[in-house]
Amino acid sequence: MLKAQNITVSLGKSEILHDVSFEAKPAQLTAIVGPNGSGKTTLLRAMTGDAEYSGTVELNGHDIKTARAWELASERAVLPQATPLAFPFTVLEVVRLGLNSGVTADKGGLVMRALRRVGLAGFEGRFYQELSGGEQQRVQLARVLSQVWEPVTDDTPRWLFLDEPVSALDIGHQLQVMQIAKDYADAGGGVVAVMHDLNLTAMFADSIALISEGRVLRQAAPEAVLQDELLSRAYQCSVRVNTPPADGTYLLPHAASFAAE
Ligand SMILES: Nc1ncnc2c1ncn2[C@@H]1O[C@H](COP(=O)(O)OP(=O)(O)O)[C@@H](O)[C@H]1O
Ligand SMILES: [Mg+2]
Repeated sequence: MLKAQNITVSLGKSEILHDVSFEAKPAQLTAIVGPNGSGKTTLLRAMTGDAEYSGTVELNGHDIKTARAWELASERAVLPQATPLAFPFTVLEVVRLGLNSGVTADKGGLVMRALRRVGLAGFEGRFYQELSGGEQQRVQLARVLSQVWEPVTDDTPRWLFLDEPVSALDIGHQLQVMQIAKDYADAGGGVVAVMHDLNLTAMFADSIALISEGRVLRQAAPEAVLQDELLSRAYQCSVRVNTPPADGTYLLPHAASFAAE
């Protein structure tokens, strides 16, 4: 279980998150959605201990503030929104960073398994900087997977925190990456993913938290969050949610309603 309560984050002089509470269960994919700048990344960074916050974050029953770095690293892995690298690392070297320490032997060939999992077998000798944005994003996912490969260890779930994991991907690779996340949850792990694409979110999420201006407007099952009025209010545009007869949920942007300046 991941339980964040009364999270407030200030960056510079402004308060970015205002008393936010959020929950995620293992064996589920929990999505965080909301407009640009609403605080999704900030909430994720607070819950992974990467941003200072007031409030409490419990992961698997313990307060993350009292956990040691290596304990957290073996319990959860984080895919940041952007991962620029200043040095010319190869793909193999980047994915190896996910292993718990540079000297840990790669038991079971995890690095190669992770690369195969994201469809990048054969890329291990390439330079990270020379890959496309979408390929780099999947290399980073392989790094994250190699860090917490087994979704459950000693009866304890492990967690993936993914900040816009499919933002640079074509639709085929979007589905591939969402399926990897779903499989991780189906195997008992926890997944928390910041998402922009509401249709993919509708297809894959078990629970959705909708954030607007640093507050959670609603966290609930997808059908209770993917509501016309609620989404229109959050995204400041008119949204209609449609459910085709046999094939899940889809959304179409409908009409902009921004006032002219
Ligand atoms: N280091 C910072 N200092 C001041 N403001 C920041 C900083 N980082 C982000 N912000 C602001 O915090 C708000 C939330 O940002 P973020 O959590 O990244 O939004 P998003 O929902 O798009 O992920 C935005 O208004 C952003 O401009
Ligand atoms: Mg963000």
